[in-house]
Amino acid sequence: MAVSGHDTTSGAGGGPTRRDFLYLTTGMAGAVGAVAVAWPFIDQMRPDASTLALASIEVDVSALEPGMSLTVKWRGKPVFIRNRTDKEVEEAKAVALADLKDPVARNANIAADAQATDVDRSAGKDKENWIVMIGSCTHLGCVPLGQAGDFGGWFCPCHGSHYDTAGRIRKGPAPMNLAVPVFSFVSDKVIKIG
Ligand code: FES
Repeated sequence: MAVSGHDTTSGAGGGPTRRDFLYLTTGMAGAVGAVAVAWPFIDQMRPDASTLALASIEVDVSALEPGMSLTVKWRGKPVFIRNRTDKEVEEAKAVALADLKDPVARNANIAADAQATDVDRSAGKDKENWIVMIGSCTHLGCVPLGQAGDFGGWFCPCHGSHYDTAGRIRKGPAPMNLAVPVFSFVSDKVIKIG
């Protein structure tokens, strides 16, 4: 005899299992923290007084005897400092302005239209032996070699520009004299550039 019946299993006691949700509050706190540290970081990117001070450098030139040069880096560029010999100065002074390819001094310390006399290319009447120039060829920016070329000054081997002992362009494709940056003697031994 067959026995019939049915499964009476029900869902009694069922229903959705309660779950606990964990809110990651620590994650939110982290996001707020990131904003909080961002501002000081951006603030540091503004140039302040100490950063601007680095825009100028002081160079001890006491070891430079006549005929000696020093190259320093200023604002990412080489700067030539040379204590010229009397002969170099005399050679530069003997050049007629009419013979210059660029008759402008290009000296940031004096009037923009000053002529490229030797004294106005140099550190001035009392320190005419000293010359300070940015070591970047005015053609395409190569670094010229010192005491080389047809005029005994600087020579740029990239395309053959010759500068004289006052850093004035005399031959080759460069259009201008080597630039003289803002500088001064802060003492007999120290030059401040910038
Ligand atoms: S970069 Fe100096 S001659 Fe061209």
